[in-house]
Amino acid sequence: MSGNSKPVTATAYREEEDLLKIASKFTIDTYKRPSEDKDAMKAILLEKLQGKRVVFDTGCGIGESSFKLAQKYSDQIVLGVDKSVSRIERNNSFKKDVPSNLLLLQADLQDVWPALYELQKDNALEVTKQYILYPNPWPKLKGVKRRWYANPMLSFILELSSNIEIRSNWKRYLEDFALVAGHVGKRQCELQEFTPVEFLTPFEKKYSLSGQALYQLNIR
Ligand SMILES: C[S@@+](CC[C@H](N)C(=O)[O-])C[C@H]1O[C@@H](n2cnc3c(N)ncnc32)[C@H](O)[C@@H]1O
Repeated sequence: MSGNSKPVTATAYREEEDLLKIASKFTIDTYKRPSEDKDAMKAILLEKLQGKRVVFDTGCGIGESSFKLAQKYSDQIVLGVDKSVSRIERNNSFKKDVPSNLLLLQADLQDVWPALYELQKDNALEVTKQYILYPNPWPKLKGVKRRWYANPMLSFILELSSNIEIRSNWKRYLEDFALVAGHVGKRQCELQEFTPVEFLTPFEKKYSLSGQALYQLNIR
């Protein structure tokens, strides 16, 4: 990946009040997505993760961050999920020697978040931390509701674990996430600019080498 990426220049926002109205409509009880995919996902996850403490790397791309997190959290299982077959199955050198505490899965997060939530509710596993590293910004107006903070997945994200770390090169995405997590989820949020000591993900590297500022939101 080269270092010539351009900053996000979206002008498509929801006003605060509007955004909070959208976000507060989502509840786990009223979430309607056909449950067969979620049930199939529950079976897969149960087989692999029963009784485990899990660090969840959401939208992990090629899985490089999941690999690094598996080294950091050696006493837990790191679950890396991405819907892109080409990214998750890419033949990267770090995949030659996959640590036993790393599980990379090609799947849609919209099945995985609800499945993990239900498994955790049944005490089958515990998600200790979620990473949302450089999520797709969906910069156009028609994409606003695909941003995770304005999407039905929000309630699952907030319910699943008390410790969430989100990184982005687009500060406004994180400001909006913090607004929603604070008001709707009543959570403590800390947003800061940071300079990576070592790159956790390929997108982090690409943005950083392009001279872009990077931001990190911690939700507790
Ligand atoms: C901008 S990339 C960041 C990838 C990686 N976290 C990184 O920083 O290098 C966003 C990733 O989220 C994945 N993604 C987006 N929506 C998803 C979904 N509904 N389910 C699973 N993965 C998704 C995309 O396939 C893509 O790989």
